Order: sequence, then C-alpha cells, then structure tokens
Amino acid sequence: MRINKYLSSCGVASRRKCEELITAGKVRVNGKVVTELATDIKDDDSVEVSGKYVAPTQRSIYIMLNKPKGCVCTVSDDKGRKTVLDFVKLPDRIYPVGRLDYDTEGLLLLTNDGTLANKLAHPSNMVKKVYSVRVEGEPTDAEIGRLRSGVTFGGVKYAPAQVKRVSCDNNETKLEITVTEGKNHEIKNMIESLGRRVLFLKRVAIEGLRLGGLSRGEWRYLTPREVDMLKSL
Ligand code: URA
Repeated sequence: MRINKYLSSCGVASRRKCEELITAGKVRVNGKVVTELATDIKDDDSVEVSGKYVAPTQRSIYIMLNKPKGCVCTVSDDKGRKTVLDFVKLPDRIYPVGRLDYDTEGLLLLTNDGTLANKLAHPSNMVKKVYSVRVEGEPTDAEIGRLRSGVTFGGVKYAPAQVKRVSCDNNETKLEITVTEGKNHEIKNMIESLGRRVLFLKRVAIEGLRLGGLSRGEWRYLTPREVDMLKSL
C-alpha cells in the first residue's frame, strides 16, 4: 500500500497531512528515514512516525466536538497552545477534519478514517459548511450580493456563497453563510473584502450534521446514520 494511505489507515492523519510528515523526514520504514512519497509499504515492514511505531487501526472513530475559542486544530502544537485533542481524551489516534481558526468555535469533526477525512476536506466535493457570523455594522444589499456572486481578497478568489441575514442590532449584523471551499480564513477574508470585520464566527453545520445543543468543549460520537450520511456525500 502507498505510504500516505498506509499512514492514514493507521490513524496518523489525513493522507495529505501524512505526505507532509513524510517529506518532513518524520517517517521511518524498517529504521530508515523515507521521504519518497511513491514508497509502498509491505505487510512485514515496520513503520515509525516521530519515533513511534504505528499499525493499521481496527475501529473507525467519528466524533463531533463543539470547539471552543482559544485552541488549535492540530494534534500537537509546538507553541504549547491548547489543541482540540485536549477536549477529546481517547486512547486512539484521531485527528481533526480540516481546520477552524484559533478564535473560531463550533462544529469540528475528528476521526481516524483517512478516506472520509479526505473526502470531506477536498474542495472538489463541495461539502457545505454553514457558519453563524456576526459582522461589524450593517452590510448593504449590494455587499451581500457581492458575497453571493463570489469575491476576491488578497489575490484569492472565493466562490459564490449562500448568505442569509438573520438579525441586526447595536450596529452588528448576524448572517448565516454557507460555503463549500474550505479555504484558509475563508469567511473572515470574504467579509474583509467588503471592508468589514468579523466579530464572532461559529460553524453550526456540515451538510446535514448540526451542532445542536452540544456545549462548548463537549463532544459526542456520531450516530451510524450520521456516519452513513457523510460517507454517501
Ligand atoms: N472561515 C474563517 O475565516 N475561519 C474559520 O475558522 C472558518 C472559516
């Protein structure tokens, strides 16, 4: 099996992230550092990541966390910041699917299923992510129209988004924005392209999966029906 696929089947990370680990020289096969992505792993090979032996995992785990602000979506942080795994203590190696910013909260999936993680994270699959956004001031209809047609910010193009006005008071507007791309700082950059600032950002749904009443920092396993729904996307 191709080395990146093998590592993600061990629950190390998504295939793309595993490629980064390989090229960074963190992976050894039979004691030797391997940086070649085209390497194949045979049944009797022993594989280490950052000095720890890994093996294909048995059970697939699918978790939804209500990520609070003030933590990063990585497995470990070299700046010593809190990570999302500080909220989900399990013996199994799981990792977050995609990212929410340090100061963004809401629905985050964690899994050891590299195939599903790849599928959900890949922009070509157009997975809908729904955000509740509080914006400074009151965006005009023309500004909302620009978000709906697609904006450019910092040389990056953002695809058309679905935008609903929810409420407006105290010189703040609450919007619900649905996007499918998953680009870095997507919502903040889209709003900044209007010359406005995001005051609060929370992901409330991924396709049919809703955060519901889960409190900040709490997590739960997905139901088999929810997992099937995500796999069928
Ligand atoms: N868009 C952002 O700007 N930040 C996030 O965390 C998620 C989407």
